Amino acid sequence: MSRQRLDKTLAHMGIGTRSELKKIAKQGRIQVNGHIVKDAGLQIAPEHDRIEVDGEWIQYKEFIYLMLNKPQGVISATEDGRERTVLDLLDGTLRIFDLFPVGRLDKDTEGLLLLTNDGQLAHNLLSPRKHVPKTYLAHVEGAVGEADQNYFAEGVRLDDGYVTLPAQLVIQHVDEDCSPPLSVIDLTIHEGKFHQVKRMFQAVDKQVVYLKRIQMGTLLLDPKLALGEYRELSNKELEGLKGEAT
Ligand code: URA
Repeated sequence: MSRQRLDKTLAHMGIGTRSELKKIAKQGRIQVNGHIVKDAGLQIAPEHDRIEVDGEWIQYKEFIYLMLNKPQGVISATEDGRERTVLDLLDGTLRIFDLFPVGRLDKDTEGLLLLTNDGQLAHNLLSPRKHVPKTYLAHVEGAVGEADQNYFAEGVRLDDGYVTLPAQLVIQHVDEDCSPPLSVIDLTIHEGKFHQVKRMFQAVDKQVVYLKRIQMGTLLLDPKLALGEYRELSNKELEGLKGEAT
């Protein structure tokens, strides 16, 4: 049973800074297993002890996992001098958790982005050896056809000579009435090269004009999340991802 300081535990849960927690404890607002604790430095067992602040149960979690529906215009970084980052979309109380995005979406790409402070899971999901599939919905200028599907299924030679792993291209709809034609497709890739989806279409002389990630491994973007909204993963979603990344 691992033990750690009460203030460290509560700071990790986003309840306050160490100095704020010292004050809160002195005010008699913290209870551990039903007893008021005024010493914020008390050693406790976060996984076992019941901690309450102002009567509210603070359920300890070592890691946080959020699914974000990333909007366009924000960058997938933890900080940037000039641009808004995905962390700027989070509620202030979550800022304390050292969350970071698992992988990158371009500034103009929308959709599923996992934010966590679980470095091991992130590492496993991003490992080139794991080939965790990622599915994108794209609007593409040009008539995407069977020849593209076959080429993508073999592997596409990108502008730098790299040949991608086989990718699955599903054509949803091709509108031939507009000029140039507009195709709506789903593409599943098994790696994450820089601008990969856009560059795969460039290789067949077509241009991605809208891109949204809709799936990563077993994790599906929740259609109830509006752009910029996020929620914690369910246990089932988390287990699915962990299974994927082992
Ligand atoms: N491929 C791209 O081209 N851009 C993204 O943001 C993700 C995949």
